[in-house]
Amino acid sequence: MSQTAAIATAERIHVWDAPLRLFHWLLVIAMAVAFLSAEEASPLNNWHIISGWVAAILIAFRIAWGFVGGEHARFSGMWKGGGLGHHLSGMLRFKPTAAIGHNPLGWISALLLIAVSIVTIWTGALIVTSGGAAGEDLHEIIGWSLLGLVVIHIVAVFVMSLMTRDNLVRAMVTGYKRAGRHPDVSNARRPSFFSYLVGLAAIAAAIFGILQIDPQAFVPRSTESAEHGENQTGYGQRDVEHDEIGHEIDNE
Ligand code: HEM
Ligand code: HEM
Repeated sequence: MSQTAAIATAERIHVWDAPLRLFHWLLVIAMAVAFLSAEEASPLNNWHIISGWVAAILIAFRIAWGFVGGEHARFSGMWKGGGLGHHLSGMLRFKPTAAIGHNPLGWISALLLIAVSIVTIWTGALIVTSGGAAGEDLHEIIGWSLLGLVVIHIVAVFVMSLMTRDNLVRAMVTGYKRAGRHPDVSNARRPSFFSYLVGLAAIAAAIFGILQIDPQAFVPRSTESAEHGENQTGYGQRDVEHDEIGHEIDNE
């Protein structure tokens, strides 16, 4: 290794493993599509349900990764790093300590985003499997609240980056943080071959489970057609007939 490369390596610390970063940015894309396609009038509406199910696969992966992933991806790391009280008192003095992985508030926001995403997906699935009979209002309210949380998340990332002078967005892109802000910290333990196997198994299990719930999960269709039971889920579909020119006649 050349002298320059050796210095460059020492100047930065590996924090976020590649699968975790890929998870994050794919989730951002899936959620962006889910929000932009949510309204019936949206030209992207046929992609709403697919993007929601893709988010579900990503979240299943992230939960498995929380047990087997790289060092700072693990849920067990939540309790390291000084605790919430210490972190909050630092924030109140405008001097929060820069954390190498998530700080305690970062963990809370990550878990909250994941939990509310799960409830959003679950209520969305409820609309589809009940043929529009359940979940609609709940899905809409929770879905738009999730957007509020995402906005708070993005603002918090920029505020924390400024307060700790640690570029958090760059770290989520490259996987590295500047070593100068984190003396005496070493590179994160990387995920093992076994971690990758478990991650892939979680993805496969999620796809299998989703297809059991909604066999047309990955077929483009409008939210309106799914709402009116025009899928083959077999769960509580509404009794809908079609006349000879293809218009729906709702029997309820
Ligand atoms: C739909 C939009 C988004 C969702 C659902 C989302 C979700 C999440 C989640 C779940 C985590 C935790 C990561 C993990 O441990 O797996 C996280 C972390 C993070 N996100 Fe996002 N995110 C979104 C948008 C963004 C955007 C637009 C940015 C950049 C401007 C961003 C920057 C970050 C950063 C820097 C972290 C790491 C924070 C830390 O160091 O503690 N996120 N995000
Ligand atoms: C995290 C992913 C998701 C987000 C953020 C999300 C968000 C939303 C929002 C905000 C609406 C309301 C649109 C409006 O105001 O008219 C909506 C509608 C809808 N969503 Fe989702 N959704 C997600 C996942 C899903 C999934 C997985 C399904 C189905 C399996 C689904 C099915 C539907 C349906 C059928 C509607 C139409 C309901 C109506 O018109 O009242 N969504 N979604």
